[in-house]
Amino acid sequence: MSESNPNAPSEQCVESEAAASCIEPTRRAVLTALAGCACLAAIEPAAADDDEQPGASERPQKADVLVRAEGDKASQVIKSDDLTLGGPPIRAWPQDPKTSVVRKGSRLNEVVLIKLDPNELDDATRARAPDGVVCYSVICTHAGCPITAWVKQDQGDKNVLKCLCHNSEYDPRQNAQVVFGPAPRRLAALPLTVADGAITVAAPFVGKVGAQQGG
Ligand code: FES
Repeated sequence: MSESNPNAPSEQCVESEAAASCIEPTRRAVLTALAGCACLAAIEPAAADDDEQPGASERPQKADVLVRAEGDKASQVIKSDDLTLGGPPIRAWPQDPKTSVVRKGSRLNEVVLIKLDPNELDDATRARAPDGVVCYSVICTHAGCPITAWVKQDQGDKNVLKCLCHNSEYDPRQNAQVVFGPAPRRLAALPLTVADGAITVAAPFVGKVGAQQGG
């Protein structure tokens, strides 16, 4: 199933700023794929800002808020009540609440949030998912494409996060473990908490952000 995609990022896309430049061609490929597939509940890709502000490239920090990455509510702080149970997922950037700097200087900081029934989550996932809101890196661990789809599993009735480059699927209820495709490991998870209704970062990423090294 892991058909090669000539537009996929280099397999050298690892946790580094170089990974950002690897992702852009694949986004074009993903948009093309989505245009021809009405069955997918796609997560639209977000554009990064070239402006580099202090802290913009730092990984998410404890107490950061999360702001929408796209749409007519782009840049708005996300509250738990804003999310619809069961998805669709939304893409977001961490934002320093003191300086208001959005940490979109690195695409490795972009995350995807989904509100799920807490009873569906395994213990490790539930422990960092207030109100059932789970949060993961948007970067596929196979070759660095962004996760762009929320689809029904081939075998099963639950939706999963899917990377359209080579069809890897991740179950957000089970700590984003790989349930299909060539991805070598789960997505990095971002532990959350809720403060005054706003979703905030409780701790740095758990797990490595970015794609595998080598082939
Ligand atoms: S980059 Fe290959 S499955 Fe995501």
